[in-house]
Amino acid sequence: MHNIDIDLVEMTLDVMKYAIHRITATSLELGQPKKEEELRKLVGETVTSQGIGGEKAFQLFKDVLVKATVPIDHPRHLAFVSAAPTRASIMFDLVTSASSIHGAYWMEGAGGIFCENEAMKWLVSLTNLPKGAFGVFTSGGTAANLSAMVAARENWRKNDQNIGVRGLIITSVGAHSSIKAMAKVIDADILLVDSENRMTESDLENTIDALSDDIRKRLFAVVGTGGTTNAGIIDDLDGIATVCEKENLWFHVDAAYGGGALAADSVRHLFKGIEKADSITIDPHKWFFSPYDCGAVIYKHPEKAKEAHAQEGSYLDIFKDEGAVGFNPSDYQIQLTRRVRGLPLWFSLAMHGTDKYKKAVEQGIALAQIAGKLIAKESYIELVREPSLSCVLFRRIGWEPKDYNNWTYKNHKAGFALVTPTKWNNGNEKETVARFCFINPDTTTEDISAILNSMK
Ligand SMILES: Cc1ncc(COP(=O)(O)O)c(C=O)c1O
Repeated sequence: MHNIDIDLVEMTLDVMKYAIHRITATSLELGQPKKEEELRKLVGETVTSQGIGGEKAFQLFKDVLVKATVPIDHPRHLAFVSAAPTRASIMFDLVTSASSIHGAYWMEGAGGIFCENEAMKWLVSLTNLPKGAFGVFTSGGTAANLSAMVAARENWRKNDQNIGVRGLIITSVGAHSSIKAMAKVIDADILLVDSENRMTESDLENTIDALSDDIRKRLFAVVGTGGTTNAGIIDDLDGIATVCEKENLWFHVDAAYGGGALAADSVRHLFKGIEKADSITIDPHKWFFSPYDCGAVIYKHPEKAKEAHAQEGSYLDIFKDEGAVGFNPSDYQIQLTRRVRGLPLWFSLAMHGTDKYKKAVEQGIALAQIAGKLIAKESYIELVREPSLSCVLFRRIGWEPKDYNNWTYKNHKAGFALVTPTKWNNGNEKETVARFCFINPDTTTEDISAILNSMK
């Protein structure tokens, strides 16, 4: 398996040919899932004692398996939070893999970690956090949020009175599911401010004021959202920061999706207060056009994260020795062995410059505004709320939840578009509505019009 022969050389060329074709493709097929039995029938047994050969396995992947996936960078993939990695970043993802770099410790990964840190410097600069703030790349927003929550909890537990006490975090209903899920991982309770709209200073104050003394003692962190996944809403970060400072609470901002908009001059003012956060999540694999997987967590005081995360072990001592000294990404998040997953972002930033990133993010915001205007012109659809960042919620008048699902399936099956419904509070009820989330700067006004027409 580790020898080089003519078959391996041919296979390498085949793989490169595929990659070149995919990286330079200007039109993509919107694949769709098949049942597992169906896929098994089409490909047969692939993992056998003797192997089926690279050529055959690759052929099956190209002919069958990749066609049962949705290319996340399809311009009419407007569901969830899609992605649109730059071609440069995809190319460098290949280089990152081929280079076999261990990204945990400077001793082994210095050159790669240096590049990651150059990209990180730019991310940190967008937040306006004070000097000394820094971060690391993670496998995504969930891992970044978890890393920040662990740092917050460990910092709180430095006070002996909190050792053995179950912690409590306040966030809002609009916060991403990963905040609630990661609270379970650290065995903390979550208290939700009951609104999917912008969480304000007074929402937070009232929630804290209503706590009994015993419960108040368990509260150690507040999570604000810098662009909710469902609707692109940015909490009152400045007001929340004021309360956190007064109440001595760790302030985490989950800007996994919206963080890209920190680069957009048109909306940067909406994030006022983010510079007061203790930690921030930003996912380059969402709105900074990196391939999966690439999240980031940034800390105002990285040394606090290091106290929480640095692993100890006699086999690791050498990494901490003076001779090996340098920045060790593993000290600041939950993972030890890690891919230098910030490298593709670094290469793309180095190649294109940050202005192009600003422009590409602004395009997502512009597309949301265009969609809003197109929707407002039609009588069969209407906006549920004004577009926010790159999210647009709208309803098809007269439709029931099943109509939205059928519409999604129909467009997907036709290989035309992937746009999914969500729910939004309408009075006391959760109403099923349609949602666009624009990331891909290649999405066109014609794409949006065609999707809206498919609801007629
Ligand atoms: C606001 C927010 N936070 C966290 C996440 C989770 O990120 P990931 O899927 O990269 O773990 C998402 C994903 O959409 C998100 O939108």
